[in-house]
Amino acid sequence: MKRIPKDFIFDLVARTNIVDVVSSRVKIKKKGNNYFGCCPFHNEKTPSFSVNDKKQIFYCFGCGASGSAIDFIMEFDRLSFVETIEELANLQGLTVPYVNTDNDKSSDVSAHNVRADLYALMTGIAHFYHQKLYTTEAAAAREYLQKRGLDQSIIKRFNIGYSPDSWNETNQTLAKSQVLRDLYDQAGMLVTNDNQKQYDRFRGRIMFPIRDRRGNVIAFGGRTIKADDNVKYLNSPETSVFHKGRQLYGLYEVLETHRNPVQLLVVEGYMDVVALAQYGIDYAVAALGTATTEDHVKLLFRTTDNIIFCYDGDNAGRRAAWRALTTLLPAMVDGKQIKFVFLPEGEDPDSMVRKEGKIAFEKRLTEAQTLSQFLFEGLLKQVDLTAPEGRSKLTTLASPLISQVRADSFSLYLRQQLGQYLGLLDVSQVDKLIGTKPVSNNETINYEPMRMKLTTMRILIGLLLQYPELAKQVADTKSIELSQLPGSDIFRQLLTICYHYPDITTAQLLAEFSQTAEKAVLQHIKALAVWDHRYSEEDIPVIFTDTLKALYDSILAQRQELLIAKSRTTKLNEQEKKELSTLLVLLKKG
Ligand code: UTP
Ligand code: MN
Repeated sequence: MKRIPKDFIFDLVARTNIVDVVSSRVKIKKKGNNYFGCCPFHNEKTPSFSVNDKKQIFYCFGCGASGSAIDFIMEFDRLSFVETIEELANLQGLTVPYVNTDNDKSSDVSAHNVRADLYALMTGIAHFYHQKLYTTEAAAAREYLQKRGLDQSIIKRFNIGYSPDSWNETNQTLAKSQVLRDLYDQAGMLVTNDNQKQYDRFRGRIMFPIRDRRGNVIAFGGRTIKADDNVKYLNSPETSVFHKGRQLYGLYEVLETHRNPVQLLVVEGYMDVVALAQYGIDYAVAALGTATTEDHVKLLFRTTDNIIFCYDGDNAGRRAAWRALTTLLPAMVDGKQIKFVFLPEGEDPDSMVRKEGKIAFEKRLTEAQTLSQFLFEGLLKQVDLTAPEGRSKLTTLASPLISQVRADSFSLYLRQQLGQYLGLLDVSQVDKLIGTKPVSNNETINYEPMRMKLTTMRILIGLLLQYPELAKQVADTKSIELSQLPGSDIFRQLLTICYHYPDITTAQLLAEFSQTAEKAVLQHIKALAVWDHRYSEEDIPVIFTDTLKALYDSILAQRQELLIAKSRTTKLNEQEKKELSTLLVLLKKG
């Protein structure tokens, strides 16, 4: 087992500025001591998402999402803890020093950051392919691209290349050492045959590098240029940096030109994205040969408010669009829009835009069908509304679809629409027919704003989290240890961390604590870290001391009660007797 040393994580959090991390992903503006923006974790129009520079944490007043830069990246980029640490280390130019935790004698430190190494290798490969495109061996590939109408600037923008038509040239050029070869294999660039021989996956193909949102090359798609090849496109397999269902081809290239695109057009193929860009429609992306996933929709809605899905006009295209409904309905968000465009039969966006040009193609987009229009059109085709049986069938068909919608106003709108077709004016009548109350937004909102009663312990924990330097004021941790008050073990753990790292910040304390804490506890802790205490800053030390004193008093009172109770049943020993009389004096004074 490999582990990342705690001190490294601690140091990493100290070097990372959460404002940079967040602002490279979400638009935020400085207002007073905080930065504000629209929350990326729930849908909203007025900003209630805040980032605190001093405490290095984020907090959403709307949905309660909160935490350090680590929490933010885990949630936003959908990475695991270890992947997040690698990502942050990468940004700081650091290498994650994994420690071997196997209990054998070798506790060697194997220093490498797989993620960063993979990015570097893949970027190198993309560069190699691109260079190759301009050599004599790629004459046919260049001719092919020209035939398909791509000019130099588009080839550059998408970093299109050519993989040499050789079993081993690429790996022998770019993965000379054993370490690099292992990495090259992990990147999905090798194929192993039945005799355990390995060779390059991509040979003699036009190469499309697939980049993540930040421009790291994470995979490739390779198109054949041979007419008799029965594999038109070959794609990288899933790897630790490439998850098909979470990536969209062309998104990085869109964001290079439009930081906040008004709309995104989702098409099917690599060539569609590239050809559209060639014609000035530079806001198209493609799912990588997979059906649209919920992660895709989330990724799209994080980038824009308007998604248009483009399908072929034939039956297969319409069926594909209808299948996408089951993913789109639950992923729909109030205030955002999903539309569908169907092209004439036999056309794809590439052929279409070549035939009719940008203006005519964009006209199709403005005439796109909304999600609800498409839904009801599809349903009405299957029923005869003039007959009661038809109306009842409409209800049966619509119910399972509408009940998937989590967006409140969109759901209401659909139920109203359904009511109109059924001749019912009152939505509650429709709801009775559908039989299910629409599911609420719980699943898309991961955090509920916390409502907690403020106890002595919570005040102490909250203040300590927000002002870790207060730990210096706590001289006696022994009696806290003795107390059985809920939260006292957490308070003590936090104090221990603060003693260990005298200049700790709130974000570091959260990161450190969250490595061992349970999820439920963590939610409370995060809420307390951003609890709006309304005390004035200069009063905080005094308030903390007073609260601490109140805590000691209640601990002592508890102890006193315990001793008194004990003295009724058994005889107290000398030490206990002494303790009890001291307690009696102390508590009277207090
Ligand atoms: P298309 O066959 O529509 O590809 O498949 P295209 O982009 O229009 O290609 P051209 O115009 O013939 O060059 C759509 C997408 O499905 C995936 C690819 O992602 C492709 O872009 N696909 C298709 C594969 O992964 N493998 C294949 O063999 C075919
Ligand atoms: Mn095509």
